[in-house]
Amino acid sequence: MLSRRTFLQASGSVSATLLLPTLALSNNDDGFLELRAQKADIHLEGPESSPSPLWTYAGQTPGPEIRIRQGQRVKVRFFNDLPEPTSIHWHGIRIDNKMDGVSGLTQEPVAPGQSFDYDFIAPDAGTYWYHAHNKSWNQVARGLYGPLIIEEAEPAFPSQADITLVIDDWRLDNAGVLHTDSLGAIHDWSHAGRLGNYLTVNGKSQPVISLEQNKPHRVRLINTSNARIITLQPDQIGAQIIALDGQALSHSRMHEGPFLLAPAQRADFLLFPRDAGSLPLKALTHDGSFEFARFNVEASDNEPEPIPPLPVNNIPEPDVANGRLLPLVMTGGAMGGGFGEMIYKGQPLTRADIRQQKQMWAFNNHVNMDDTPFLEVKHGETIVVEMTNDTAFPHAMHVHGHHFRVLDDQGVAGDWRDTVLLHRNEKIKIAFVADNPGNWLIHCHMLEHAAGGMVNWFRVT
Ligand code: C2O
Ligand code: CU
Repeated sequence: MLSRRTFLQASGSVSATLLLPTLALSNNDDGFLELRAQKADIHLEGPESSPSPLWTYAGQTPGPEIRIRQGQRVKVRFFNDLPEPTSIHWHGIRIDNKMDGVSGLTQEPVAPGQSFDYDFIAPDAGTYWYHAHNKSWNQVARGLYGPLIIEEAEPAFPSQADITLVIDDWRLDNAGVLHTDSLGAIHDWSHAGRLGNYLTVNGKSQPVISLEQNKPHRVRLINTSNARIITLQPDQIGAQIIALDGQALSHSRMHEGPFLLAPAQRADFLLFPRDAGSLPLKALTHDGSFEFARFNVEASDNEPEPIPPLPVNNIPEPDVANGRLLPLVMTGGAMGGGFGEMIYKGQPLTRADIRQQKQMWAFNNHVNMDDTPFLEVKHGETIVVEMTNDTAFPHAMHVHGHHFRVLDDQGVAGDWRDTVLLHRNEKIKIAFVADNPGNWLIHCHMLEHAAGGMVNWFRVT
């Protein structure tokens, strides 16, 4: 488990700069930017440490930050220099289905040595990310992800006050090298997913991030972990929440107590320090807390600047009262059960499927994807999904191609999200307008759970 002790032992030197290199647009005559998936030896515990054989975008992890304006085209010519087929999913973007990057559903995976042109419009401003979507449990764990930042038509925050922090949880061995033997371990698949023992922020351990006194900053947090839920306490550092999963809140808010950032989720914090000094960013664990990054507030004599307003995106509002109800019951996994009822590829799930295929999770007793969609809806229909977590573990449920409202007990619409966390025995309703034609995944973003069966798809006609 990730503890203060293993974390402190593992941490190396503190780095001062953290900026992610940006992928400049149109470095090609036809406006495509080139992005290569390639192997790279990366020293995760600092320059002196043993290198890990990672899989990266452009030789670095996180991959380069892709930053464009709302409404612009994203044009990426993707090359696969890895030994395994792969594809890129643009997480959280309400995207043209052909460009969603799901191997085996929206495109064939890109074979080693081949390329694929991604070309789409980003309709909504906000904090998104991109990651591999073929055997994600393996490819994302090896480092295949990066931030995708869609700026407002007029960027709300100046670039020095707009900070992207990509958080990942790695499983390292005693030499500080990525533990690859345990990739695909059945224990991880059947329990909480692959949890690590070393947290990085933009690829660094315990970085220090400079802020300026009396200046409002936007800090974009992205959790790219396979399975680690990161528990933060934004109120302890005076941070307000201004956006979730890319979507600006209509009113910023203070969140009291623990704030959970599940795998794939994003949160934009507003940090407006009135005093110089130091603000530790801590993660809570079962046995305490540890500091995994630190904000260093530099003194300034400037008057406090006004807080820039963050415009909300224009997402169609679901008609909850007349929506179509889809119950979705999550079962399986260790300490769960219900295996007797489960169907895998049209047949009752067998012990061999569990042991050899590592299939053990289900939605409505269906393990993994069926050949036919598990729901077919008409364009423009409101879908209300009532999710019930009947397992012993938490799950981070993600819907492709749509943002949804999380409903409260009375059915009142709350925040927009693209990934929602359900604790064990929890029931949550979400609602969205199925306004994007195509074949869309719905899955748990604990990547081992998705691979082990918690994935299915729906079709919007
Ligand atoms: Cu972030 Cu199906 O993925
Ligand atoms: Cu899960």
